[in-house]
Amino acid sequence: PFPWYREMHEESPIRYDEDRECWDVFRYDDVHDVLHDPETFSSERPLTAQGEGETDGMALETMLNTDPPRHDELRKVVDDPFKPGAVKHLAPHIRDITNEYIDAVVDDGELDVVADLATPLPVTVIAELIGVPADDREQFKQWSDTIVEGPEAATVSAETVKEAQLQAQAEMATYFTELIERRREDPRDDLISDVIHAEVEGTTLSEGETLGFLALLLIAGNITTTNLITNAIRCFATLPDGIESVRDIASLELAVEEVLRYQSPIQAVSRVATTDTQLGGHSVEAGDRVVVWNGAANHDGDKFDDPGTFVPDRSPNQHLAFGSGVHFCLGAHLARLEARVALSTLFDRFETMQLAETELQPVESTFLYGVQRLPVQFST
Ligand code: HEM
Repeated sequence: PFPWYREMHEESPIRYDEDRECWDVFRYDDVHDVLHDPETFSSERPLTAQGEGETDGMALETMLNTDPPRHDELRKVVDDPFKPGAVKHLAPHIRDITNEYIDAVVDDGELDVVADLATPLPVTVIAELIGVPADDREQFKQWSDTIVEGPEAATVSAETVKEAQLQAQAEMATYFTELIERRREDPRDDLISDVIHAEVEGTTLSEGETLGFLALLLIAGNITTTNLITNAIRCFATLPDGIESVRDIASLELAVEEVLRYQSPIQAVSRVATTDTQLGGHSVEAGDRVVVWNGAANHDGDKFDDPGTFVPDRSPNQHLAFGSGVHFCLGAHLARLEARVALSTLFDRFETMQLAETELQPVESTFLYGVQRLPVQFST
């Protein structure tokens, strides 16, 4: 999308798209302004476990699609476990899990970064945080995979995919309803117990809201983190000395931030105007949908020098990959930690790494940026 972003920045930084029936906002400052004005640009819109705008499946009421003040109350319920100090202690464990996934493929000389590491890692980490018992995690991962991607055989029809997704969703909901019951009686130090026992606006959450909470953590955190880890390898592969040259750069931290800027896993988020308003000289009407391209903001030449170049030690780097304002990503610190630990573990285990294929299939989504498979050859 990057040449398109450049064209839009120059020719129509804010425009109405008749086909998609929405406004598109491309410049950094405009994207920032919309995200910081939730009163005018509301997040209240339909959301299901299949994603935004989908009408099939369980409707979710979550912090992601709720405005302040209720949003802030919902978010407070789970804020603490996602703060930097709280996620930091997960690092050794994330390293152990990564090593297990590497052990499983180390004799093959090749791995698919997507399937062998970047997909299972975030699912496993979030399952543990939520409080899914170890014995149930394999089943849990299958449900999440099906909900996100459909059944394994890619040859089945669209209806079969949809059916399997809805069934996995229903099974997972039943599973969580039982787990919630157990934790109600016997609270543990996990997110399920936090959510069940929290009070929002003076009352505890309904069962539907509790389920919505758990579903959100899965929808928001998994494929995005998968794409961050995968995009990192793709970005590093474009450097003159190849993927492993990142091993020697001073800071993997800065390199991960630059991946977030350069190939943002989420390219756009959407809002709905609550009143007639002006946006960069255009008249937006109440009820209009506004698509905010944070991926384009991250390539805005007015904000970033040489935005089309991947600069692994770029600093400062105030990208908007995690959004901005009240909905700023809850899982940002966790996602960064997972990416840094997964990548540094790959560098520890492998002497050399190179992409095994050059023709990569993008994930099928307008708003997500990633690839379906990323085969990498390595030596140990
Ligand atoms: C919100 C990106 C990982 C949970 C957001 C938003 C973005 C984003 C752009 C703002 C949405 C909006 O303004 O409408 C990302 C990226 C990730 C990532 C790029 C990985 C690289 C995670 C993880 C979790 C998570 C690991 C949790 C386990 C959430 C939640 C929200 C959110 C709950 C809603 C926050 C709110 O409404 O206050 N994320 N995310 N995300 N993210 Fe993430």
